[in-house]
Amino acid sequence: MPYAITQTCCNDATCVKVCPVNCIHPTPDEPDFGTTDMLYIDPATCIDCGACADACPVDAIFPVERLTKQLRPYAEVNAAYYADQAPPQQDPTPNFHRWGPPVFHRDIPSDFAPLDVAVVGTGPAGMYAVEDLLLHTNSRVTLIDRLPVAGGLVRYGVAPDHPSTKKIGETFSRFHAHPRLRLRLGVEVGKDVTADELAAKHDAVIYAVGASSARSLGIPGEDLPGSVAATEVVAWYNGHPDAGAVDLSAERVVVVGNGNVALDVARILTADPEALAGTTIAPAALAQLRSSKVREVVLLARRGPDSAAYTAPELLALAQQDDVDLVVDDHDPRVAEAIAAASAKAALLQGVPREAVDWSAPPRHGGRRIVLRFNSAPQEILGDTQVRALRVTGDVEIAAGRVIRAVGYRGTELPGLPFDAGTGTIPHEGGRVRPGTYVVGWIKRGPSGGIGANRTCAQETVGSLLEDAVAGRLAR
Ligand SMILES: Cc1cc2nc3c(=O)[nH]c(=O)nc-3n(C[C@H](O)[C@H](O)[C@H](O)COP(=O)(O)OP(=O)(O)OC[C@H]3O[C@@H](n4cnc5c(N)ncnc54)[C@H](O)[C@@H]3O)c2cc1C
Ligand SMILES: NC(=O)c1ccc[n+]([C@@H]2O[C@H](COP(=O)([O-])OP(=O)(O)OC[C@H]3O[C@@H](n4cnc5c(N)ncnc54)[C@H](OP(=O)(O)O)[C@@H]3O)[C@@H](O)[C@H]2O)c1
Ligand code: SF4
Ligand code: SF4
Repeated sequence: MPYAITQTCCNDATCVKVCPVNCIHPTPDEPDFGTTDMLYIDPATCIDCGACADACPVDAIFPVERLTKQLRPYAEVNAAYYADQAPPQQDPTPNFHRWGPPVFHRDIPSDFAPLDVAVVGTGPAGMYAVEDLLLHTNSRVTLIDRLPVAGGLVRYGVAPDHPSTKKIGETFSRFHAHPRLRLRLGVEVGKDVTADELAAKHDAVIYAVGASSARSLGIPGEDLPGSVAATEVVAWYNGHPDAGAVDLSAERVVVVGNGNVALDVARILTADPEALAGTTIAPAALAQLRSSKVREVVLLARRGPDSAAYTAPELLALAQQDDVDLVVDDHDPRVAEAIAAASAKAALLQGVPREAVDWSAPPRHGGRRIVLRFNSAPQEILGDTQVRALRVTGDVEIAAGRVIRAVGYRGTELPGLPFDAGTGTIPHEGGRVRPGTYVVGWIKRGPSGGIGANRTCAQETVGSLLEDAVAGRLAR
């Protein structure tokens, strides 16, 4: 019986390296790797050895026969990937894949003197860079974070009901005790120490500072009380030191955006608080959820279901919640058409009921539910002293007491470093800002991609750093 990869896969490709028969794809060398929602096991080739399940840092891999009811669809999800990749009739090669260009491992002289490298940021990008430096070079690393607890968004972003994903933090924190690493928590670069001071004390500095602020919507009413950014809600339920309380007195909440952050927020706001009680959720947030008035969360997407920003595993998780209904607002015939036409993404909604919702009325009574509304862009947040409704495409007013803007994160400027205000990133080439200064992760690529995407990103950045070191371009 083959194994299957399931919901919590974060694309870090650890399993790819241990599979003895190369049956996990796409691999980091294949073109699909950058865009795939998750990795998949080819059931026709898997020899059932279990090596991948032992290696997976987030417990995402199980034998098909032992999949729980919720995870059972993943047997089909894994197999379907290979059905989609079937070879053309004239090419009978089994296990067909579209290969990318070859990747050559870098070469550094064996007598190369140890480098002193500062890495700023303990999130996934910083930790993959640290791992690469410690395991593949003899560098000494100073690892810095402004927060008193390490982990970046693994600690303060990943939802508390995703405990397997949070487990990857244990893989990263193993390196905190490495003899060539010094950990400095509670130190903010730009405030407690300047970029110039760091540069003067190290051969190279890698900035892995992420994207901590919220992208703005740019519509009237955005700053009304009751309109909050998802960054604040995520910080609240994860107990971030900078977080405040979130008002849960409204029955209907509209979340603008349908990326995975929007889905996380919708799931937590509608979850049974008792099911969250055993998780890492912040105690203050749990107490508030126990007296929450929220009964309906609307996920507002400006595009159709075939271009939804969420990934398939996160939508499946939403659809499988036992005590929360999921419905699609049937306001636009194009939505039903897209679902019926079954592009891979829209097809996920084929079993989800559709209903024409009356947005002028309060949410229907009964249990909690999540409504997916597509083809609907936000135009104005309405209210005098407090949010009362959101006006969307077609002049439709959705009566709601809260609007949560989940339209993406944004990087912030760091004194002493260049900054592209348009993209919210630090300009670079292959991770190199200038010889001696490097970037990795969301501050390099922008705020998209799961945890595993930062691994190949870190390899590129560390590669540029070592190239500069070998070429004598670092002021040592
Ligand atoms: C809400 C949310 C949930 C997510 N859930 C998942 C998930 O379930 N699965 C998944 O695969 N991906 C998930 N992701 C994506 C994943 O978290 C990101 O890909 C990843 O965290 C980006 O890594 P990073 O290291 O660039 O940034 P971050 O993780 O944000 O790390 C940046 C670090 O830099 C520190 N820092 C910032 N400025 C300074 C400074 N001036 N001085 C010192 N330190 C500083 C910060 O404190 C932070 O620790 C989620 C993202 C979000 C926003
Ligand atoms: N695996 C997980 O569980 C998990 C959890 C959380 C986050 N993540 C990852 O973290 C990354 C960031 O996630 P995210 O949700 O913050 O970002 P995202 O995936 O980029 O989604 C942003 C959403 O905001 C919408 N949007 C942007 N500007 C808008 C505007 N002006 N008006 C209306 N809608 C607007 C986007 O619509 P368009 O699509 O139309 O642009 C999209 O629906 C993603 O790669 C995500 O997969 C993963
Ligand atoms: S999280 Fe990593 S090791 Fe686990 S299944 Fe996904 S790619 Fe493989
Ligand atoms: S069980 Fe073994 S053969 Fe099957 S995917 Fe995992 S590592 Fe590969």
